[in-house]
Amino acid sequence: MFGGRYKVGACGDTAARRRFQRIGDASYAERRPQRCAGRYKEKVGGRNVHAVADDRDQDVPSPIDLRDPSDAGDWVATADHTRPWRAPIRKAIAELLRAAMPAPRRVLELGAGPGLLADAILQVCSLDNYTLFDFSQPMLDMSRARLAIHPSATFICGDFKLPDWTEHFPAPFDAVVAMQAIHEIRHKRHVPGLYRQVRDLLRPGGLLVVCDHTPPDDSARLTALHSTEAEQHAAFAAAGFVDIATHLILNGLYVCTAARMTRSQA
Ligand SMILES: C[S@@+](CC[C@H](N)C(=O)[O-])C[C@H]1O[C@@H](n2cnc3c(N)ncnc32)[C@H](O)[C@@H]1O
Repeated sequence: MFGGRYKVGACGDTAARRRFQRIGDASYAERRPQRCAGRYKEKVGGRNVHAVADDRDQDVPSPIDLRDPSDAGDWVATADHTRPWRAPIRKAIAELLRAAMPAPRRVLELGAGPGLLADAILQVCSLDNYTLFDFSQPMLDMSRARLAIHPSATFICGDFKLPDWTEHFPAPFDAVVAMQAIHEIRHKRHVPGLYRQVRDLLRPGGLLVVCDHTPPDDSARLTALHSTEAEQHAAFAAAGFVDIATHLILNGLYVCTAARMTRSQA
């Protein structure tokens, strides 16, 4: 079993959380969408993009299409520049997996994008298989090029919003990881259901590692899209996960983990 045994810089106390959130405010302000009568626009890769702001219970449309080569390229070119702390967070996640007991052999990543987290993990973990799952062919092409020296990397194009998406995999996995990808389910109310599907892909005791954003502001759109760290914990619990922990909160990005129940815990 994995959960809760290898905290790296855990920051559960309120004062620390406030401090991290203050640090994060500057980047949030830069990314805040400008609202205008039901529509919003925000800058992505130096361009203004537009989408319609929906009702609180409606799914939140993305202002960009990461399946489009140009949007995917823009996102990759700017992501680590906008949030330079993504790289140390990738290292912390890789370290979590490296320290896990028993050592994971098979890992699935959801919304793997250009393969940056996979690269960090494969540099420190010896794996039989690392499966990168993404609905964007341009992203998968970038990850395939980045990970060419890792024969254990496999690439699957699919959409985790589709009901049968888990049929793509040779389960079970020892760990499932996701970085800035879970909110792509496009409304936080779908997250517990997604985690129930993820749970069934894990072996008993297997680890789920989620890095995502706290809502950048308190607008209806962004609080519907992004789960807080507490909402992540609640979604894990609702999906039947145990050993729920937060390992790191840095400039609005958190890293939380949970484990699938073992037979003796069930
Ligand atoms: C914000 S990017 C993060 C990429 C990568 N995890 C990282 O942090 O560098 C979100 C990724 O999720 C993928 N994605 C979005 N919606 C998806 C879906 N419904 N099913 C599968 N992948 C999806 C996108 O193509 C993109 O690669």
